[in-house]
Amino acid sequence: MKTLSQLQQLKRDKEKITMVTAYDYPSAKQAEAAEIDMILVGDSLGMTVLGYESTVEVTLDDMLHHGRAVRRGAPNTFVVVDMPFGSVGIDATTDIQNAIRLYQQSQCNALKVEGAHLTQFIKQASQMGIPIVAHLGLTPQSVGISGYKLQGATKDAAEQLIQDAKAVEAAGAVAMVLEAIPSDLAKVVSEQLTIPTIGIGAGKDTDGQVLVYHDMLSYGVERYAKFVKRYGDFSVGIDALKAYHQEVKSGAFPSEEYMYKKQIMGELND
Ligand code: KIV
Repeated sequence: MKTLSQLQQLKRDKEKITMVTAYDYPSAKQAEAAEIDMILVGDSLGMTVLGYESTVEVTLDDMLHHGRAVRRGAPNTFVVVDMPFGSVGIDATTDIQNAIRLYQQSQCNALKVEGAHLTQFIKQASQMGIPIVAHLGLTPQSVGISGYKLQGATKDAAEQLIQDAKAVEAAGAVAMVLEAIPSDLAKVVSEQLTIPTIGIGAGKDTDGQVLVYHDMLSYGVERYAKFVKRYGDFSVGIDALKAYHQEVKSGAFPSEEYMYKKQIMGELND
């Protein structure tokens, strides 16, 4: 497993960092087999796996359940788990209690939180020894206010984002996800921070990239954002299921090769 300091060294060496989401044991096993640097148990699981409209319905128990499965599937990969909507930003005691529970019980390597308003929490959690990845730009937990659109797209908004990025780094964030911001802004943020930036829809100059597993593998997704490259096509599963359905209906499955050969009825009649 890459340690935090190894991940930070990748930035200094200008070697790009790879991150992909995983939500369960098999996807985590695949990410580890592919030697991906970091896995994110994203609260995007609300949409990709649970069929919700947004991440807002995802609970701390959901993240714990999926985080533990991913840890079992990828024991040797750096795993980050999202703190979901409503689990942080309440009050200092509740926030830290939720963070401790998720960090301890998922056995992940870091937690991720959305938004610069959590700078104080990042400081407190870091001081306690919980590594925190910050997430700025488009923060899906706040889409009710911001909408799903490019962030940091005006001069003021870009300046604010740079300021926020510096503040969360100073508070102790160990890495930063930058989502849906102009590529030139992401480049400046990445140059001005010492911690690695991981971009999604933030161009090529961040220190790493993250994609959502179901997006990049075309697995049950109906709409794709501009920044999604589809590296595989899991919709072939539908053809396989159709073939199975037809073969059972026609009696073609199971054929001899899928049956146990031992005959028992004769013995029972003796
Ligand atoms: O939940 C998630 O999958 C994320 C990525 C979009 C970075 O936060």
